[in-house]
Amino acid sequence: MRKKIVAGNWKMNTSVTKGIELAAAVADKSKETANVLLIVAPPFTHLTKVGEQLKGSAVALSAQNCATETSGAYTGEVAASMIADTGATYCILGHSERREYYGETSETLNKKLAQCFASKLSPIFCVGEKLDERESNRHFEIVKAQLQSTVFNLSDEEFDQTIIAYEPVWAIGTGKTAMPEQAQEMHAFIRKTLAEKFGTKADNISILYGGSCNPSNAKALFSNPDVDGGLIGGASLKVDDFLAIAKSF
Ligand code: 13P
Repeated sequence: MRKKIVAGNWKMNTSVTKGIELAAAVADKSKETANVLLIVAPPFTHLTKVGEQLKGSAVALSAQNCATETSGAYTGEVAASMIADTGATYCILGHSERREYYGETSETLNKKLAQCFASKLSPIFCVGEKLDERESNRHFEIVKAQLQSTVFNLSDEEFDQTIIAYEPVWAIGTGKTAMPEQAQEMHAFIRKTLAEKFGTKADNISILYGGSCNPSNAKALFSNPDVDGGLIGGASLKVDDFLAIAKSF
C-alpha cells in the first residue's frame, strides 16, 4: 500500500542509552504526524531496547541489514528471524554503504531479500547511482539494472511488502541534495521500470528519497507526485529535525 513514510537510518551512531532516548522522543512526538508512517532503524545492539520503547506507539522499527543465511556458524552475522524477534518489522537492504564498503552484490541482496520475507520483515530496498555514473548520464541505466537484478525477482506478494529508497550516492552525507526535479524524474522512472514487471502494483509502492534530506529541503522534495517520503541519515539523529521532515508533506 502506498504510504507517506519517513524513515530514520541511524547508521553506526548513538549509544544504547542515547538511542532509547531518541526513540522515546520520536514516539512521543509522533502523534503530531499521524498521516505519516515513521520508522527508526537503529544499530542491531539497540533493537530490543528501542523496540520496547516504541511499544504502544505508531513508530515502526527497522534493522539496517540482515544475514544472507538462516542460522548457524556465521560469526558476527544477525539473522532476519532474530531481527523479527526484537519486534522489528522492516529491514534496510542494499544501502550504498553496504554495497561499497562490504561488497554487497545483487546476489547477496537476493539472499537477504529472501531471508527478510521468510521472517516477515518488509525490506526498505535502496538503489542509486554514484557521481561518475550520473555525470556520464548512466544513472537511469544503473538504477534499472539494480532493480532488474533484485526486486524483479520478487513475487507479487513480496513486491507489495517492499519499500524502495532512491539514494543518489553523491547526495549521501555530502550536504548535496538532488534537485526536486531530479528526484521526481528518477522516482517516476523507478515506478515506470517496476511497472514493466509488476504492472499497476507499482502505483501502490512507496518510493522514498534519501541523501542530505533535511527540514529545509524536505517540502520541495516531498511535494513531487512520485516522492512518497524520505530515508533520512544525519537529520534522523535530531528528533526536532526528523519530525520537522515528517511534517513537510
Ligand atoms: P544523509 O541523510 O546523512 O545524507 O544519509 C542518507 C542515507 O544514507 C540514509 O540511508
